[in-house]
Amino acid sequence: MTAPGRTARVTVVPLSLPMRRRQLIVIAVVAALGWSVARALPPPAAPTLQGLAAARGLRWGSAVTNDQLRDPGLRRLVSEQSGLIVPESELKWDGVEAAPGRFDFSAPDRLLAFARAQGLAMRGHTLVWHEQLPAWVKALPPAELDRAMATYIRTVVGHYRGQLPSWDVVNEPIADDGTGLRRSLWLERLGPDYIARALTRAHQADPQAALVINEYGLEGDDAKTARKRQAFLTLLRQLRQSGVPLNAVGLQAHLYANGSGPTTFRTLPAFLRELAALDLDILVTELDVNDRELPAAIPERDRAVAAVYGAFLAAVLPEPRLKLITTWGLSDRTTWLNAFMPRADGLPQRPLPFDEDNRPKAATATIQAALEKR
Ligand code: XIL
Repeated sequence: MTAPGRTARVTVVPLSLPMRRRQLIVIAVVAALGWSVARALPPPAAPTLQGLAAARGLRWGSAVTNDQLRDPGLRRLVSEQSGLIVPESELKWDGVEAAPGRFDFSAPDRLLAFARAQGLAMRGHTLVWHEQLPAWVKALPPAELDRAMATYIRTVVGHYRGQLPSWDVVNEPIADDGTGLRRSLWLERLGPDYIARALTRAHQADPQAALVINEYGLEGDDAKTARKRQAFLTLLRQLRQSGVPLNAVGLQAHLYANGSGPTTFRTLPAFLRELAALDLDILVTELDVNDRELPAAIPERDRAVAAVYGAFLAAVLPEPRLKLITTWGLSDRTTWLNAFMPRADGLPQRPLPFDEDNRPKAATATIQAALEKR
């Protein structure tokens, strides 16, 4: 097709020429045309995290907030690199039902509208957690706490029925030292059955949504992680034996680029196989790599962070039940770590795939290479 205002150039190959010579001219003309067409096309876009993930049957997601999405550069980065978003805080109890019976879905609805406009999915995080609860919930005696949980799950999961592919129904139920269930207000007032009740209620409110128990500290090779894995498997086996609806496990995967947390993952594949043996899918839900105890120099920090991304992905990507990898933010500018685990030198952390100006880092290349590796 000739562009408007352009005359098509036609090359005539005289039949009087010998066949071989005519063939060579045709080959040269076709090659020249191909080159000029290729030159006119835009350069192939760099591979995106969600594109590389999708090529191996996975989704790549990232946590965002409405406030962060006011930055057009981040909106573009999230839309380009992610196939899914998760509200970093907008779908937690303290924002959704700040007062008894007064539900406000405006903030998560805005995130869902953004996701839809960009063709992204959104997953739910989180329903029953011991953090970010309104004060009125924390003050309830057992019977009222159970009723409040039932109302909350029915109302919130019902509001998004059929729209969210999965929910972190229960968040961080295992004791940090791995000695059993976390002694939260949920356990102390409702007993261990609160987990089964939360899952059953979520299933009743949206039978289509995949139900997830989300936990941190399950990734490394140390003794505490081993204890926590066993406590988690005990809970999961009990839920399976009771026929409680449960589809997947969320590994938060808050990792560390130095000795203060998991940086090797030799034992992780076997743990994932134990989860798969319980017919559970595996979601990586909050991936980031903390660099708080590394020296200040950025090239060294970025290399160390990239190495942990590489080691972790090498451990999880071969697992057939892995379905989703979500980073807890996408740009270093938005990481929660600067507020919650600041570096002693006060420098901003660099835990995420893209830097504070949304530019690729060593970690980006490492993640891309890991996703491309078969
Ligand atoms: C964090 C958010 O990133 C913060 O902005 C918020 O103030 C507190 O919660 N595990 C979780 C997440 O499951 O919900 C937490 O997110 C990080 C730890």
